[in-house]
Amino acid sequence: MKIGILSDIHVDLEGSDPQRLLQGIVAAIKEHNVAIMIIAGDVANDFEVTLRFLHQLEAAAGVRCLFVPGNHDIWNEKHPDKTAWQTYHGLAKFTGNLVRGPVELTDQWVAIGDLGWYDYSFGSPDYTIAEYDRMEINGRLWQDKIKAVWGKSTIEMHQYFYRKLEKQLDSCKHKSIILVTHVLPVIDFTVQPPDKMWHYLNAFLGSQQYGELALKYAVKYSISGHVHYRRQVKYENTTFICNCLNYASQWIDNDDPVVEVKKAFKTIEIN
Ligand SMILES: [Fe+2]
Repeated sequence: MKIGILSDIHVDLEGSDPQRLLQGIVAAIKEHNVAIMIIAGDVANDFEVTLRFLHQLEAAAGVRCLFVPGNHDIWNEKHPDKTAWQTYHGLAKFTGNLVRGPVELTDQWVAIGDLGWYDYSFGSPDYTIAEYDRMEINGRLWQDKIKAVWGKSTIEMHQYFYRKLEKQLDSCKHKSIILVTHVLPVIDFTVQPPDKMWHYLNAFLGSQQYGELALKYAVKYSISGHVHYRRQVKYENTTFICNCLNYASQWIDNDDPVVEVKKAFKTIEIN
C-alpha cells in the first residue's frame, strides 16, 4: 500500500491558489497510485478553511486523507473569539484527523499523531525559560505567542501532547507505527547551523522528546512538517521525514502549484 506525504500547504496565504494546489495534490495522488494521503499540518491559517480543503481533497482524490493540525491551523487570526482548544477541537470534526486517536491502516500498520508543541530543547542553552516564554527576539514576535491561545505554558502544552502520544504508542507497541507530528522530532530538521536569531527561534520548532519517543517505540516512520524543508534522516530503525510544500515565495524557479507539488510529493510503501 502506497502512502503520500506532504505538509505545510498554506492554501490561504496571499498569492496562494487553493484550486491549483488541490489540482496538484490530486494529480500527484493519482500519478503515484496512493491509497492514503498524510498531511502533517499547516493547511491554512483558519481552521474552517483547513476543514473545507481536507474534505475537498478527499472527495476529489477519492482516497482517505489523514491529518494532524499545524500551529497555523489552530491560530485565532480569523476567529479572535476562539481559544486554541476550540480551533483544535473544531478540526477534530475531520474524521481523518489523528487527534481523534490511532487509525489502523492494515492489520499490521497503524498511524498515530498530533500537533505536538515546543519545549525549547532545540534552542540554545544561552537563553532562560523565561526568555523563551516571551517568544520575541530583536523585535520579531513568534506568532504562536498571540495566535495560539491555549491558556497553558508552552512547556505544559508540549507535555500534554507528549503524554497523549506516549499513551497511544504504548497501546499500539506491537504494531508497525507511523507517527505524525506537525512539529519536529529531531534537531536535524531545525535551522542548522543557526545564526544568532535561529539560536533562539529553533526553540519553537519542536522537541527532541518526540524523536526519543519514536525511537523508544521503534516507530517505522516519523513524519513532521513546520520548518519548510524536504529532508529525511534515519536513526536506528526509524526513518524521520519532513516534507513541506512551503510558501510559493520559497519555491525555486517555479510559481506553478501543480509543478511544485509534483516536485515535493513523497511516498512510502507499507505492506
Ligand atoms: Fe507550522
